[in-house]
Amino acid sequence: MIFTVADDAESLAQALADRLIVEAQATWAHARPLRIALSGGSTPRRLYEELGQRAATLPWQALEIFFSDERAVGPEDAASNFRLAYLPWLSQAPPGVLIHRIPGELGADAAADAYEDTLRRAAGAGRDLDIVLLGVGADGHIASLFPGAALTTTRLAQAVAATPDRQARITLTLPALAAARRRILLAEGAGKAVALRASLAPNAGTPLARLLAQAPVEFWLDRAAAQALCPPPGP
Ligand code: 6PG
Repeated sequence: MIFTVADDAESLAQALADRLIVEAQATWAHARPLRIALSGGSTPRRLYEELGQRAATLPWQALEIFFSDERAVGPEDAASNFRLAYLPWLSQAPPGVLIHRIPGELGADAAADAYEDTLRRAAGAGRDLDIVLLGVGADGHIASLFPGAALTTTRLAQAVAATPDRQARITLTLPALAAARRRILLAEGAGKAVALRASLAPNAGTPLARLLAQAPVEFWLDRAAAQALCPPPGP
């Protein structure tokens, strides 16, 4: 596991934006765009705002955008993960940039099938995603893989049924997350350390723990999350 720690949420967003741009430029040097899946939730908002502020100088041609998950809603819906990235950043993309939105408005099952086709056409068969951005929930969920989810599948995208307190969703599957070249998990605040510690514990069974058992994850944390995860030695 690789940990990158920044002083605060703002510097974390700036540092990760710097790194993603470097990665895109390096991938473009091999004549193809960086295939990156964007996370939802509130944590990546600063990152997308930071990338939006740099829109004029971004290597847009070197980016191909996917999503780690989406809610079963349209792009205008306030709950949309696409909208989270679109408003501050992707709305400034020049024509020709490949942005593979998950069509949540079709409903979870149809949208998952459509995204499966997109992923198999654009990636898959050894051309997997390069980077998957993830957050982590208090229960150790990643993307929309919640505790109890079916994690063994041959699919790259799967539907997640609604529950009384959660909209239906579409998510990259655990195999798709594990097959990506890199996984970057962004977490801010001491509260996230509780979820991270639970998933890093031996024999943990959370979706994050199940991913860690299959593939390395790079943790990008602010100091509050890092210190709560690994408290400095006592006096
Ligand atoms: C989503 C995300 C989800 C998120 C975590 C953390 O669509 O909600 O994909 O997995 O990353 O729930 O959310 P926060 O960043 O809001 O803490």
